[in-house]
Amino acid sequence: MSDTKVNFIFAVLFSVALACGLFAQEAKVYNSFHPGDLWLDNNGIHINAHGGGILFRDGSYYWFGEHKISGRQGNKAQVGVHCYSSTDLYNWKDEGIALSVDTTDENSEITKGCVIERPKVVFNEKTKKYVMWFHLELKGQGYSAARCGVAVSDNVTGPYQYLRSYRPNPNKWPVNATEKDTTIPEGGDTTLLKLSGNERAAAGYYLRRDYPFGQMSRDMTVFVDDDGKAYLIYASEENYTMHIAELSPDYTSFTGKWYRLFPGGHREAPAIFKRNGIYYLITSGCTGWAPNAARFAVAPSLFGPWEEKGNPCIGKESEITFNSQSAFVLPVRNKKDAFIFMADRWKPENPIDGRYVWLPIEFIDDGIRIQWSDEWSLDFFD
Ligand code: GAL
Repeated sequence: MSDTKVNFIFAVLFSVALACGLFAQEAKVYNSFHPGDLWLDNNGIHINAHGGGILFRDGSYYWFGEHKISGRQGNKAQVGVHCYSSTDLYNWKDEGIALSVDTTDENSEITKGCVIERPKVVFNEKTKKYVMWFHLELKGQGYSAARCGVAVSDNVTGPYQYLRSYRPNPNKWPVNATEKDTTIPEGGDTTLLKLSGNERAAAGYYLRRDYPFGQMSRDMTVFVDDDGKAYLIYASEENYTMHIAELSPDYTSFTGKWYRLFPGGHREAPAIFKRNGIYYLITSGCTGWAPNAARFAVAPSLFGPWEEKGNPCIGKESEITFNSQSAFVLPVRNKKDAFIFMADRWKPENPIDGRYVWLPIEFIDDGIRIQWSDEWSLDFFD
C-alpha cells in the first residue's frame, strides 16, 4: 500500500474515533444535562457505564454500568462493570472497574466474553456490604442461560467479588399463582405450543416449564424498600412476564417469596421508584437494541395490584422513548419529588459510543410524564 493510502486510512480511522469520543478530550465542567450528547468524565473520556444504576452513599453518587468496547464485540463483557462517582450528578470521576471479568479462568461464569448487563449496586445495612446484581449470560450460549449474577464488596467502588449466579426460585410458586397457573392443562402443556408466546405465558406454560429449575432472569433492576427489604425485578418467562422476587436479608440470595407481574405482557428494561407510598415501574417493549415505546404501571405494594398506565413519554419521538431504553430511575437527594429517568441510546455496532438519555420525571394528576429536553439542570425540580 502507498504511504498516501496508509495516511488516508489512518486519518479516517482517527476522525471516526475522535467523533466517537474514544480519545480523551479536554475535560469539561458541566452545570447541566445534555441528553444524547457525549458525556465526558474527569479525564475527558466519554462515560462508559451503560445499562447502569446509581447508588448514593456518604455524600456521593456512584454510577455503575456496563463497560463497553468498540465494535460488535463490545456487546459482550470484555472488561466488566465500570464505576464513576459524583457529588453534583453532572460531573463524574472515573473510579475504575468495580467488577472485572475473569481473564484467567475460562471456566469462570464471568469469563471474558460472557454477557454482563444492567448492573445495579445496593448497600446492605446489616452486613455493611455492597451488593451488585446483574444479568449474566454464559460465554458462547447467546442469551439462553438467562441468569442473574451477584457480587459483593466492602468498598463501594470495589473490587467486587463474584459469588454466584441464579435462575431464581426453583420449586417455588409465586405468591399470586392461580390454580390454573400451577395445573397442567388437559392433554398436557404441549397443547399450548400452538399459542403465541404471550398467550403461552398467560397460560402459565413457561412458569410450569421452569418451575423445577428456577425461573429465567434477563433485564433486571434491584430495589431496596423503606423497610430495608430488597427485591430483584427481572424479565422472565422468555421475556413475556416480569417477576419481582424478595431477596434474603443479606441481599445475596432469594427468600422464595415472589410475584408475577403482567403474565404475557412482554416487557423488559425495568426501572422502579417509590413516591408517597406508591410504586412506579417503567418498562420497555422487547425489540432488542432498537428503541420502542415505554410504559409505566403503579401499585400500592410491590406485590400488587399493579395498574397499567400507558406511555409516560410525550412529544416528538415519544413512541421510541426519545430513541432510548429505560435503565434506572434516580431519586435526587435534597429535592422534593425529584426523580431522573435514566435511559440508554444503544449503539450495537459500536457500543462504546452508546449515549445516555437522562430526563426529569414530572408528576401529573394520575401518573407521570417525561418530556424531551436538549439541556436541563436540577433547577427543574425547584
Ligand atoms: C435488550 C435489553 C438489553 C440487551 C439487548 C440485547 O432488549 O434491554 O439489555 O440485553 O436486548 O439484544
